[in-house]
Amino acid sequence: MKVLVTALVCAVCCLAPVWRVEALTVVNSKHDFSALGGSPCGYCHSVHNGLGGTGMLNPGFGAFPSITNAYSSATRVYKPTLASLDSSDAPLCLACHDQSTIAANPNLSEAKTRLDSRSDFPNAYINTDLSNDHPVGFVFDPAQSPTKIKSPLLANVTFGPGRNQMWCSSCHNVHDNNFGNFLVASNDVSALCLDCHIK
Ligand code: HEC
Ligand code: HEC
Ligand code: HEC
Ligand code: HEC
Repeated sequence: MKVLVTALVCAVCCLAPVWRVEALTVVNSKHDFSALGGSPCGYCHSVHNGLGGTGMLNPGFGAFPSITNAYSSATRVYKPTLASLDSSDAPLCLACHDQSTIAANPNLSEAKTRLDSRSDFPNAYINTDLSNDHPVGFVFDPAQSPTKIKSPLLANVTFGPGRNQMWCSSCHNVHDNNFGNFLVASNDVSALCLDCHIK
C-alpha cells in the first residue's frame, strides 16, 4: 500500500508540468491545430532549431518566411531592421499570417485554408511587408522617448535574447484568447495602447 501511495504521489509530481500546460488555453483555441495531427504546441514550438531567446519558436511543420520591409518613420526613435525582425517572433506568426502557400506542407496549408475562409477577418494576412504594421523587432527602452513612451504595466516587452525586445507577443498572447484577438489585455478604451503610449 505504501508503495502504491508513493507511486501515486510520484505520478502526481510528474503530472505537474501537464497541469501548467492546461493552464495555457491554446487547446481548443483558434490556434489549436492538433485536429490536423501532432501536438497543439508543435505548430509553433520545436525543441530543436528554434528561434530567439524564448520558447524555442518554430513553425514545426514549415519554414520561416523572410520579412521584406520594416516599419520606419521620421518621428520614431526605435528602428527595427530586417535582421532584428528576423530574430523576433514575427516570422513565426507570418508562417501562417502571410499569403504565401506552403504546398509542401499539408499542415500549414490547412491553417492557411482556414485563414482564407475567414471573410469576417480581412486583416488576418499581416504579410511580410511590416512597414504598415505596428513596429516590432527592436529593443524597447522608454528612456529614449520619455515624453511619448512609458514602461507598460499590462503588456510584456521582455522578449528576445536580451529579454528587452518588443515583439508581436508584446501585444498578443497566443496562448490565451480571453480578451479576443489573442490580446495580452483588454483594449477597451484603448487601455492596451495607453499602457505604453503617453497621450
Ligand atoms: C500560435 C503559436 C503558439 C502555439 C500554438 C503555442 N505557443 Fe507557446 N509560445 C509562442 C510564442 C510566440 C512564445 C514567445 C512569447 C511568449 O513567451 O509568450 C511562446 C512561448 C512559450 C513558452 C515560454 C514562455 C516564457 O515565459 O518564456 C512556453 C513554456 C510555451 N510557449 C508553451 C507552450 C505550450 C505548452 C503550448 C501548447 C499547449 C504552446 N506553447 C503553444 C507561440 C505559441
Ligand atoms: C500554424 C499557423 C499559425 C501560426 C504560426 C500563427 N497563427 Fe494566428 N491564426 C491562425 C489561424 C488559422 C487563425 C484563424 C483561425 C480560425 O478563425 O479558425 C489565426 C487567428 C489569429 C488571430 C485572431 C484571433 C481571433 O480571435 O479571431 C490573431 C490575433 C492571431 N492569429 C495572431 C497570431 C500571432 C501574433 C502569431 C505569432 C505569435 C500567430 N497568430 C501565429 C494560424 C496561425
Ligand atoms: C501594439 C500592439 C500590437 C502589436 C505589436 C501587434 N498587434 Fe496584432 N493586433 C493588435 C490589436 C489591438 C488587434 C485587434 C484588431 C485591431 O485593432 O486591428 C490586433 C489584431 C491582429 C490580428 C487579427 C486581424 C483581424 O482582422 O482581426 C492578427 C492576425 C494580428 N494582430 C497579428 C499580429 C502579428 C503577426 C504581429 C507582429 C508582426 C502583431 N499582430 C503585432 C495589436 C498589436
Ligand atoms: C508594449 C508597448 C506598446 C503598446 C502596448 C503599444 N505601443 Fe505603439 N509603439 C510602441 C513603441 C515603443 C513605438 C515606437 C515609438 C518610437 O520609436 O518613438 C510605438 C509606435 C507606435 C506608432 C507609430 C508612431 C510614429 O511616430 O511612427 C503608432 C501609430 C502606435 N504605436 C500606435 C499604437 C496603438 C494604436 C496601440 C494599441 C493598439 C499601441 N501603439 C500599443 C509601444 C507600444
